[in-house]
Amino acid sequence: MKHFLHETDFKASELPALFALARELKQNRGRHARPLAGQTWAMIFSKSSTRTRVSFEVGIHELGGNPLFLNRNDIQLGRGETIADTARVLSRFVHGLVVRTFDHAEVQQLADMGTIPVINALTDLLHPCQIFADAFTLMERWGPSSLGSDAASRGDDLVGSLRGRKIAFVGDRGCNVANSWILGANLFGMKISLAGPPGFDAAPEFDQLLAREGFAGGYHFTTDPVEAVRDADVVYTDVWVSMGKEEETSERIRVMSPYAVTEELFAAAKPDALFMHCLPAHAGEEVMQEVLDSPRCIIFDQAENRLHVQKAILATLAAGRT
Ligand code: CP
Repeated sequence: MKHFLHETDFKASELPALFALARELKQNRGRHARPLAGQTWAMIFSKSSTRTRVSFEVGIHELGGNPLFLNRNDIQLGRGETIADTARVLSRFVHGLVVRTFDHAEVQQLADMGTIPVINALTDLLHPCQIFADAFTLMERWGPSSLGSDAASRGDDLVGSLRGRKIAFVGDRGCNVANSWILGANLFGMKISLAGPPGFDAAPEFDQLLAREGFAGGYHFTTDPVEAVRDADVVYTDVWVSMGKEEETSERIRVMSPYAVTEELFAAAKPDALFMHCLPAHAGEEVMQEVLDSPRCIIFDQAENRLHVQKAILATLAAGRT
């Protein structure tokens, strides 16, 4: 059973086919095959969402399936039914799960205890759907405009276009998007530099995950944002107060203020560097409005590509069902 809980659940050898499929689905939207026909995929969400919820609901529908949105508090999981029993029961009804929750262990347990594919739609540890959509957005910019017809090599040039590029993540270096970009950068052969205040390290379980994947030490960290963005092809940031951290708001804004992506900081990257943000953005906090208005800001391409890449992930996992 194939799941998508971490970026590395796709082997490097599987990436070209995945991203070639994403491009095909994007180019043929409304005309492509419907590999989820007759299937229902449940979406269990414990946190708010605009992009993830809408892109998965639309994507499952466009692939011929039925999306079933379940707010955690509307099902017995929210009243104490165990993850294990929830996984066993839902496996009898639906064909796959899309899960947004706090504790990463929950998505792992749903995958371990159920018999259907599970997709991580964000945990406190990782946000792999976001990073694969981001990577595809960069492939569209840097890769070939058309793909060869040779099925074996399709997508190789897309994925290869990221190799050797540098991404700089500025701000909350311990957040799920930063963690996921560390995994993603190592998987795609990119360099990653992170800048943020001291004391916001990744959770120990992330360091264990990095080591398990053979990526220990696969990033550079500095407290100097200018050092991080120097020679960067991409400058990336996320909100300073992630969901679940609201009680730390004033302290986080205080210590992270020097890491705001201003026009000056953006100018310290390569002249053609791109600005990315997973959204929602707080203009005037982690990024200034002038940067969001820049022609090199590609945040809405990122958001759109959530749909196309997640459809490719859904189709790939559905095809792997036993
Ligand atoms: N980037 C992202 O996951 O957005 P939502 O929280 O709106 O789903």
